[in-house]
Amino acid sequence: MSHPASDITSVLKEGRVFSPSSEFSQNAHIKSFAEYEEIYNRAANDPEGFWSEIAKELEWFSPWEKVLDWQLPFAKWFVGGKLNISHNCLDRHLKTWRKNKAAIIWEGEPGESRILTYQALHREVCRFANALKAHGIEKGDRVAIYMPMIPELAIAMLACARIGATHSVVFGGFSANALKDRINDAQAKAVITADGGYRRGQELPLKPAVDEALEDCPTIKQVFVYRRTNNQFITMKEGRDHWWHDVVANVSDHCEAEQLDSEHPLFILYTSGTTGKPKGILHTTGGYSVSTYITTKWVFDLKEEDTYWCTADIGWVTGHSYIVYGPLSNGATSLMYEGAPNWPYPDRFWNLIDKYQVNIFYTAPTAIRAFIKWGEEWPKRHSLASLRLLGTVGEPINPEAWMWYHKLIGKEKCPIVDTWWQTETGAIMITPLPGATPTVPGSATRPFPGIIMDVVTKKGESVPDNVGGYLVIKKPWPSMLRTIYGDDERYKQQYWSEIPGCYFAGDGARRDERGYFWIMGRVDDVLNVSGHRLSTMEIESALVSHPAVAEAAAVGRPDPLKGEAVAVFVTLEGGRKGSEDLKQELREHVAKEIGALAKPDDIRFTDALPKTRSGKIMRRLLREIAAGSETIGDTTTLEDISILAKLREDEE
Ligand code: WTA
Repeated sequence: MSHPASDITSVLKEGRVFSPSSEFSQNAHIKSFAEYEEIYNRAANDPEGFWSEIAKELEWFSPWEKVLDWQLPFAKWFVGGKLNISHNCLDRHLKTWRKNKAAIIWEGEPGESRILTYQALHREVCRFANALKAHGIEKGDRVAIYMPMIPELAIAMLACARIGATHSVVFGGFSANALKDRINDAQAKAVITADGGYRRGQELPLKPAVDEALEDCPTIKQVFVYRRTNNQFITMKEGRDHWWHDVVANVSDHCEAEQLDSEHPLFILYTSGTTGKPKGILHTTGGYSVSTYITTKWVFDLKEEDTYWCTADIGWVTGHSYIVYGPLSNGATSLMYEGAPNWPYPDRFWNLIDKYQVNIFYTAPTAIRAFIKWGEEWPKRHSLASLRLLGTVGEPINPEAWMWYHKLIGKEKCPIVDTWWQTETGAIMITPLPGATPTVPGSATRPFPGIIMDVVTKKGESVPDNVGGYLVIKKPWPSMLRTIYGDDERYKQQYWSEIPGCYFAGDGARRDERGYFWIMGRVDDVLNVSGHRLSTMEIESALVSHPAVAEAAAVGRPDPLKGEAVAVFVTLEGGRKGSEDLKQELREHVAKEIGALAKPDDIRFTDALPKTRSGKIMRRLLREIAAGSETIGDTTTLEDISILAKLREDEE
């Protein structure tokens, strides 16, 4: 942890309070703040009782014997219970009128649309599951999924879940190198991909990156390729690569869902931590099913007739929990869109909302800030009258963006749920319940029932109201990560050792006199760039793998659009001189090593990096230099830095 708690302050002073309309509250699942508090207190007094009540709303092949087995920091939920999340997302609904309800409404970026009913989705999942089995994929195997935002991505996940294979979805924006590392860490047996997808009018090829990654992935035996863009330049390796349409051609529509243990590994999702190596966050079946199911229902106040749209990419946890598993386990209609928000024009999202009459819309503050920049004429061209609830996730929302969202999109009638959670938490942890909780722009408000949170000092003592500290979760919850895949020790050390006895989230926060939480951002070396998590160490190791680079330090700098931008300081090998060309080369190099999302925004060449006497890079100082770019020139000289460094050295 590089910032002491006393450093964590917030400039937010926000007094505006917005309460849901009485009409909204009356129709909501949770109708008043008193009702929320009653449920919250009941759950806090008897978490196991609370969670098992919720779990009973899902179908289990056999009941659990014990709700929770907690050997700090290792949890088992619904011990001995057997279920299958694919069964709960599909088969369960086929017995009701939902059989012909739209499960997924999809729109491709070029404009085509597909609607898969629950019955049709079930059929596609069963067929692909049978194809996986026919190619030797078995319960317990890991399968990497590297796909564009098309229904087959959800089908692939549900098919893996159905047969008990653990999926590891890798965001399509990651490079071949990043894909390779993730495949190898998980020892995946197969990859599911597509020839490509569409983004901003361009074809984004995926299969070539898979081919490149697989030069160095000995565990991969099979590759399944969905034809999306009809790319004629795709090569298929005999015996290893199979077209999706071929493997599903002659299989049965019927595939019994495996009866899986509640703790059976459902998926691994890699996320950035404080070291160069991404962490494989492991989620298991039962607890994750329960938490995603109930949070989707209560936070989005989901009704049978709603059309619900979460704009995230399924390559991130938000897409896993709130495009696929949460909505489908509720029998909801989930809209899925393939492409960019500003293609062909900056009103694509508003166009989709009117076209499909979307009622619930969940997006990221970074997207809202982009819409603000593009101008209010774009949303004003559309009615948006179908909307009744808005949500945000991924980073703190600044009150201006909140107000814009409230006025221009919500027409001052839609509650906004600002939801705080993480890849590790699996499901939403701090959030308003829209019919119950008065909202204040910039605050995620209160913890979800069953979630016990606090703001503490490094020693684990609660801090007083309005004093900054570390955000922690004090009791286990069903959808908590179970470990870092293959590395229990790192799991223990990263999440359970910083603050005694608590889950350490890595965020700074304060709590106000209403008990509302205000999240202030990461306190570790993790950056939040446009709502995407990046590790400074990962960027640094990408840079030093370039032959011209001797040493590198990456820090975040505040950015009005992205939240944080990536600023790097680079020292070069053997007296090489920096140039604009080299900057461009380094940007491309980082894109190749990690993905375009990690490209540095600012690169400064420097003679040396400022270090403490013990040799630690003085990141706080670099952050200050990066933030105040106007005071120090583009090429920071050692002299500039060392003067500042001397001033700061004793403070670090
Ligand atoms: C940040 C995304 C403020 C936070 C679901 C957290 C937020 C990290 C919010 C997790 C929010 C997420 N307000 N900050 N509503 N939601 N964050 O794993 O720093 O991609 O630790 O999960 O995003 O990012 P991740």
